Amino acid sequence: MENSCQVGVGSEGTRKALKSLVSHRQRHSILPDLGVYCYKTEMIKQRENDWNQRYRDKDTPWEEESPSIELKPILEKYTTQGDSILEVGCGLGTNAIWFAKNGYKVNATDISEECIQQAQTKNSLPNENLKFYTLDILNNNVQKQFDIVFDKGCLHSFLTQEAYNEFAKQVSGNLKDNGIWISISGNSDNPDDIEKRKALSFPRVSLRNIAFAVEPHFEVLEVKRSRFGEKNNFYCWIGVFKKRQFFYE
Ligand SMILES: C[S@@+](CC[C@H](N)C(=O)[O-])C[C@H]1O[C@@H](n2cnc3c(N)ncnc32)[C@H](O)[C@@H]1O
Repeated sequence: MENSCQVGVGSEGTRKALKSLVSHRQRHSILPDLGVYCYKTEMIKQRENDWNQRYRDKDTPWEEESPSIELKPILEKYTTQGDSILEVGCGLGTNAIWFAKNGYKVNATDISEECIQQAQTKNSLPNENLKFYTLDILNNNVQKQFDIVFDKGCLHSFLTQEAYNEFAKQVSGNLKDNGIWISISGNSDNPDDIEKRKALSFPRVSLRNIAFAVEPHFEVLEVKRSRFGEKNNFYCWIGVFKKRQFFYE
């Protein structure tokens, strides 16, 4: 990726000219084909710049001891034991380990090598059904397609509609036909107290953000307002989306 930054992007002037010349659709379809990934990455802002450091510092307030209480009924309704799951942004692997214990074949991925190492250490399952990998979902080249993609708190770590759209597109590419994406994100109905938001960062997406990103690639099977964990007052959206056979823009 570092090399690709030097190829084709050039000076600030060239970058600006490219930006104005290339339409939204072209930016996503043509530039990545040329290997100019850093241009896309530069456009995509994230809430957090150094995930590895957060994991080194054990500064991971999103960690929960057990999986979301809402997950079990969703899995029972839409999936079959033995299905393959790609987890995106798996963190320390709480959900991935739980999926594997419950009979799913899990590839758990995260952009942070640090957290993948910690998750591997934490996992005590001698389990062929659980593998951890480092992966940036926005620049992924996973060839395999899965029955299910799961993300909790990964989509919402981005800040722009453009990033949400790209995320949904990548997820769709990693799913089999009619595959299911289960997504849990911070909810924009959380309190607007500025001080609390500064302290906690209050990751949030609106239903509109989700719909814009998801609908071109997925049918919306359900979206529900819930809370992160039983003890938590923090609202989330839990969405279940089915990959479309033909996507539209
Ligand atoms: C808020 S944490 C949630 C972690 C975990 N899912 C949980 O609920 O405990 C967001 C996770 O997404 C990961 N992440 C951020 N950007 C990513 C990307 N582009 N591709 C894959 N993972 C990413 C971060 O490293 C972090 O582990």
